[in-house]
Amino acid sequence: MAQGWTEKVVETTADGSATIYLPELDEHYHSVKGARTESQYVFVECGLSRCEKQRVRVLEIGFGTGLNAVLTAMSAGGRSVEYNTVELYPLSLAEVEALGYFSMLPCDAAILLRRLHEAEWGVLSEITSEFSIRKIKCDMTGSCQEIPHCVDVVYFDAFAPEKQPAMWTNEVFGRIYEAMSDGGVFVTYCAKGEVRRRLQSVGFMVERLPGPPGGKREILRAVK
Ligand SMILES: C[S@@+](CC[C@H](N)C(=O)[O-])C[C@H]1O[C@@H](n2cnc3c(N)ncnc32)[C@H](O)[C@@H]1O
Repeated sequence: MAQGWTEKVVETTADGSATIYLPELDEHYHSVKGARTESQYVFVECGLSRCEKQRVRVLEIGFGTGLNAVLTAMSAGGRSVEYNTVELYPLSLAEVEALGYFSMLPCDAAILLRRLHEAEWGVLSEITSEFSIRKIKCDMTGSCQEIPHCVDVVYFDAFAPEKQPAMWTNEVFGRIYEAMSDGGVFVTYCAKGEVRRRLQSVGFMVERLPGPPGGKREILRAVK
């Protein structure tokens, strides 16, 4: 999969926000029960909001459309957020524009989302006075040396384990665990028992939380 997936289909999810469907993988970028609702609840509310620090270092696995990133930027609330995001197959701006997020979001947020996509890869770019982003183009299943240390919040937003098992291994979780600060929070939309046990086996304390409104029954939050 050197170049990523060729065919991308835009679909509308149950909350009216769009996502991308990949026919080759038979997988969506977000929950079909609500893309924006899932991003806001799983990652921002159960992840970012759980961290009490004034300066927060986030690591996202799977930048994708930038939806998690822009919702996080909109929720910074006076805190300083350094957002690091790993992506092996970046979408083009045209593919992101086709999702309609620029018209769905308030004008200020739409400007932010465009800046996030236009930001240079591999460097930390200031997007607002409280939000900066470092987009890291690397393969999470490989060594991915550019991952930062002392990460406070991890958004683990890989494709589902049955679609991309190489992303959900003890080795990947172990590397993420090592990159986190003590008390750091890891969240993912997937609550499978196998994933929970792997997270526990690399050292996390794991809890199941209720899933997003109208979405999955449960999600996972793990603490280092
Ligand atoms: C579920 S989508 C992420 C959705 C994204 N967080 C958003 O807000 O739109 C999974 C992402 O992981 C990326 N990905 C797939 N394999 C990868 C790999 N080996 N290393 C890094 N990223 C990968 C995909 O290209 C895709 O963007």
